[in-house]
Parts: sequence; structure tokens; C-alpha cells
Amino acid sequence: MLSRANNDLLTQTGPGTPGGKLLRSYWQPVATSEEMPIGGDPMPVRIMSEDLVLFRDDQNELGLIGLHCPHRATDLSYGRVEDGGLRCLYHGWLFDRHGNCIDQPAEPAGRKFCDRIKHKAYPVQEKGGVIWTFMGSGEPPLIPEFQFLTAPESNRIAFRTILKCNWLQSLESSTDPAHTTYLHRIALGNRSIRSGNDVRSLRGTEMPKIDIEPTAFGTRIFALHNSPNGKKYLRINNYVYPCIATPSTSTGDAGYQGRWYVPIDDHSCCVFEFIYRHAQPLDKDALRKFRADNVGPDLRHVRRQENRYLQDRALQGETSFSGMGDYFPAQDAFAVETQGEIQDRFEEHLGSTDVVITGIRKMLLDAMKRMEAGEAAPGVVRSNEQDPFGDFICTSGFINDDEDSFTHCQRLLAERKQAN
Ligand code: FES
Ligand SMILES: [Fe+2]
Repeated sequence: MLSRANNDLLTQTGPGTPGGKLLRSYWQPVATSEEMPIGGDPMPVRIMSEDLVLFRDDQNELGLIGLHCPHRATDLSYGRVEDGGLRCLYHGWLFDRHGNCIDQPAEPAGRKFCDRIKHKAYPVQEKGGVIWTFMGSGEPPLIPEFQFLTAPESNRIAFRTILKCNWLQSLESSTDPAHTTYLHRIALGNRSIRSGNDVRSLRGTEMPKIDIEPTAFGTRIFALHNSPNGKKYLRINNYVYPCIATPSTSTGDAGYQGRWYVPIDDHSCCVFEFIYRHAQPLDKDALRKFRADNVGPDLRHVRRQENRYLQDRALQGETSFSGMGDYFPAQDAFAVETQGEIQDRFEEHLGSTDVVITGIRKMLLDAMKRMEAGEAAPGVVRSNEQDPFGDFICTSGFINDDEDSFTHCQRLLAERKQAN
């Protein structure tokens, strides 16, 4: 259980809040590259309660500036892309991608005051099929070199989905190894369409032993399952500062996922989901179709609160624990959206299997406290030489009989070091 004050600290990310300051210390994804192709239309985006417009100028350079024109606040996302910037429809003021006002056609010669107008603008870059921004102060850091961002394009894909709840609820579901045993339980022999695995035959149906191990980038999350074959099956997932989870999704060494939980405001968030495989191309057509069947054009799940997540109780039982289809993200959406837009954490009752939840909340609160005292945000990559991700690992597999989660992970890291 959290105090109301700490729940507010963890869930509020608007400008000037401690949580907002923490999340603004890192690059955050804004849109997928597919949403903003070369020649694409300007699009309004809301991120951490700030209204912005993402656009490509007539040189196809990306810009992210305040949504409301600094003249008299008209929405710039309806504007014209021309003459080196984005022109407001109301009186024709023109802004470049750095927020400079470069034309005020309605003002007579000699009375223009472009040089006194500096519109809000944030740096933007494209990487891994996603467009990123840095909304903090000072020199922007680097985006971590996750494999799901740097792998050949054929081996990775990125999606954006909108959830109607606070960002922390979504992060907490993604880092919580306890819920998969229940919420996502499917029949033995059924393969997860996204990972390609018969998950239940690997993990069984018993509760895993859950441990966490703090690192420079966040924390490792161990879930050790009693597999039906009598062996121990370990998933090594991660929480990465400040709003990222990397689930191994039981694909062994074949690849893993990255998930960024970016606040739209305090009542809704975007999930940026990265799927990739080390060695073979993804079947992108199948992944796109599976997604299109489950996520609407409004980027929300087809199963949603308004239709009670299309729950079919007749399917509950052996085939499905939830009765909510085979698209796990929709089951997660059900779990976190029905907690309320901002979960009242001062009314919850945590158990021993919530060790990851309490651990991450503490890490976030500690980070905010240290930043208020003048320290830097944790896990920020400033140079390739000082990369906090040196001992990052995300994998799953059977462990040896004489190992536990910690010793197994250390052996894998040592073997990797030796191989390099
Ligand atoms: S409101 Fe944009 S130019 Fe007047
Ligand atoms: Fe889940």
C-alpha cells in the first residue's frame, strides 16, 4: 500500500512534477515511423500532458513544436507545410522545426516581431522504427542501443497502442511475472501467436518463484517456473528506468520485446511495443494481421471497457482463464484499465508475489528524491564508454539442477563476456 502522497508522486508527470522531471530525463517515443512517413501530414500528439504537433517540413526534416500557435492559440496540426516550416491557418504565421517564427505575413513591413517569438520545440530523432523526443533540460543523453532498435529492419517491428489508464499501471502489469500464470493462461498445446511458443508446456501452471536483482539500468526480474517436464524454467525480464519493460516472452535466446509506457497525460498512456528476433526475419504480415484483428484504427484494443472486453464466459475453463481471446495485450488492457484511470494504491493489499511492484515503486521514488537533491537521473546513457547496459540480459530457458536464478544469470553473463 502506498500513501496518497507517494501515489501522486508516482502517477503525475505533467510539467514541473517530480515524476515529469524524471521521465523527461530520457528520450521518449512519440510515434512510430509508419505514422509519420516522408510526406506525411502533421499529427497532434499529447505527451506527459503537453500538447504538441509532430511534422515533417518541406525538406522532410522532423519537428515537434507546441500545438497551439503562440499568436492566438489556433491548432497548428491543421497548418500548411511550406516555406521551411509549418504555417498557421489563422493568420499565416510560419514556424520552423526549431520553434523559430520565420514569417508573420499579416504584420506590415517594419512592424514584424518574429525575433521576439520563440515557440516551444523539442529535439526529435528517428531510431528503430520510432520517432523520439527529449523533453528535458540540458544536453540530451543517448538512446540505449537495445537490439530491438538496432537489429536489421527485417528482424524488428514497432507498434503503438493507447490505454485508458495511468502509465504506471501498464508498466506494473508488464513487469509483474505473477499474473501470467492466471490472466494469460491458455490451454496446453496452444501456441502464443507472437512468441510461437506453447507457453504452458514450458512454464506450467504453478506460481513462479520471483526475485529481483538491482542493476545500473534498473532491475532484473527473475521468474523461476516448475516446468511440467520436472525441470526449472527461468525467465529473465527487466525493468529499465524510467518507464520500460523488456519481457523475454519465453522465446529463449531467439529475441525479446521492449515496451515503453509513455504518459499521454495522467489518465492515459501509449504503449510502444518492440518485437524482434536475433537471427531470423519476423513474419511481419502475420504480426500486422494479428494486431489489426485486435487493435482498432483509434489505436485502442478492440476489446475495451465499453464492450466488457468481449468476454466470453463459455470459453473460460480449460481453453482460457480470462475468456478474452488469445491476444495477451488485450487481457493486460483489461487488467489495468479496470483498476481505474489512476489506481488508488492506498487501498490495495500487496502480497509476497508483488515484490517486483514494490521494488520498482521504491526505485522510482528514490530516483525522484535524489533528483530533487540535485543528482542525475539513474541509468541515463551519456557515452558508449559509460553504458549502464553492459550487463543487460533478457532471455529464458531451463537452468541446471545445481543453479538458482542468480547463479544461472551470472553464468550466462560470464559466458557472454568470454565469447566477446
Ligand atoms: S493564431 Fe496562428 S497566426 Fe494567428
Ligand atoms: Fe501480461
